[in-house]
Amino acid sequence: MNILIIVANPKQDSFSFAMANKYKEIMITKNNEVEIIDLYTDKHQQPFFTYQNANELEVTQEMKYYQDKITKADELVFVFPYWWGSTPAILKNFFDWNLSKGFAFEYVNSRPKGLLQNKTVKVFTTTGAPYFIYMITGAHRRLKNMFKKQIIEFCGMKLEKFSIFGGVDTSKENTNKILNTIEQQNR
Ligand SMILES: Cc1cc2nc3c(=O)[nH]c(=O)nc-3n(C[C@H](O)[C@H](O)[C@H](O)COP(=O)(O)O)c2cc1C
Repeated sequence: MNILIIVANPKQDSFSFAMANKYKEIMITKNNEVEIIDLYTDKHQQPFFTYQNANELEVTQEMKYYQDKITKADELVFVFPYWWGSTPAILKNFFDWNLSKGFAFEYVNSRPKGLLQNKTVKVFTTTGAPYFIYMITGAHRRLKNMFKKQIIEFCGMKLEKFSIFGGVDTSKENTNKILNTIEQQNR
């Protein structure tokens, strides 16, 4: 399997990178091909998305680069910290540019049809707040459903796992526990 891990965290020593590296390590031992893209330092930077006519969006070099990677991947993994109830803007910008009409979806008889069939998606995110706080308020469910319905299934992909780990700013003991959980879930 070809696995593309996309990390959206500006901190190199962040827990996002610890999770991405752990997942990569596990998947390589199972003979998968794994690549990590660091959105903040990758040389194919994309400015904030702008366009005049979405139907005539010109495919830029950067779009081609990322879309080729997405095409090649059997599994996409998004890793990011939970910022203001959602993803860092750089990941949202990645979706805005690269999940473009004609590549990720099209309209058939005025209905959207996902074009990224046969791909699975996993999401790993972390909150500073303890897990139960956003669990009881329904915020976890809202973020998961937004990803599942508005992004992943809209483009024809299947959400395989959506993991939210809480209390990541608080203790090392907690973060070690999370890395063990990732290891056990993907054994
Ligand atoms: C701009 C910004 C917004 C944040 N918003 C939230 C939030 O809405 N809820 C929350 O629990 N933590 C929030 N945090 C804390 C991050 O989720 C936390 O620092 C992160 O999960 C730690 O993981 P890392 O080491 O991988 O960055 C925010 C942090 C930043 C910098």
